[in-house]
Amino acid sequence: MTTPELSQEQQHFDQLIADDSRVEPTDWMPEGYRKTLTRQISQHAHSEIIGMQPEANWITRAPSLKRKAILMAKVQDEAGHGLYLYSAAETLGTDRDTLVDQLLEGKAKYSSIFNYPARTWADVGAIGWLVDGAAICNQVPLCRCSYGPYGRAMVRVCKEESFHQRQGWEILYELANGTPAQKQMAQEAINRFYGPALQMFGPPDDDSPNSQQSMAWNIKRFSNDELRQRFVDMIVPQAEALGLHFEDPDLKWNEERGHYDFGALDWDEFFGVIKGDGPCNEQRAQRRRQAFEDGAWVREAAAAYAEKYESADTSLIA
Ligand SMILES: [Fe+2]
Ligand SMILES: [Fe+2]
Repeated sequence: MTTPELSQEQQHFDQLIADDSRVEPTDWMPEGYRKTLTRQISQHAHSEIIGMQPEANWITRAPSLKRKAILMAKVQDEAGHGLYLYSAAETLGTDRDTLVDQLLEGKAKYSSIFNYPARTWADVGAIGWLVDGAAICNQVPLCRCSYGPYGRAMVRVCKEESFHQRQGWEILYELANGTPAQKQMAQEAINRFYGPALQMFGPPDDDSPNSQQSMAWNIKRFSNDELRQRFVDMIVPQAEALGLHFEDPDLKWNEERGHYDFGALDWDEFFGVIKGDGPCNEQRAQRRRQAFEDGAWVREAAAAYAEKYESADTSLIA
């Protein structure tokens, strides 16, 4: 039964959405809105944290001191993104320990792209250019998400993502203008990442039942297919500037639509990777659990310090 008070709260919420205003943690919100955002923001946080792995594997093998320093900074940025996002998710009422446990126990999802390996140094370039590039297309509209803490976190994250995309593009630019073997390595890397990067926007609109509600709540501003199209239109001229191409026979400019057409994506592969059958799902989960166990002493030391500080403080007051 709806109490008159509750319906007033609902009205207030509906008005915030209608005004394209922000919902803040202290505002009443429908349970579905809270759940949707908790799931989306925590999955986003997990993606940032798991996404550190394919590139971190290359820090020791990056080809120069400069490249190592840049890559290390980028991987650290991703850790920072994870932390902002766990904080944003916590404001919805689920604490970080619970969210982290969901990841460690394999119950939480994260972006399927991070279950692909980075086989060569050029893959690090392709990840920066295409994966971080797709992340930007997805996340720029999220800066206007109706939930305040998420939208504000995205503003900072997007600034850093655009640096990530440029560093990836620049790695590929160097390789594409290097020896024939280097150019081939760059081409092979983008062949591997083109399809999975396009799949980062999620299933086609017809197959994405929750999208409509997210758009009605001003969480999502554009559909999966609209964002995917935007991304394709962005990367085709960038590939041309690199002197590389995408191995998609259906990729061509459509004068009438004013957009690039592109070929069908392998959705069986996508859903297979989500279900756990990707090339690195097991390795990613195992590595994350190991890192969590290895960090136990840091958490214990921090807790002991906090306790000591608290009791010292109390005795000073007494
Ligand atoms: Fe990120
Ligand atoms: Fe990034």
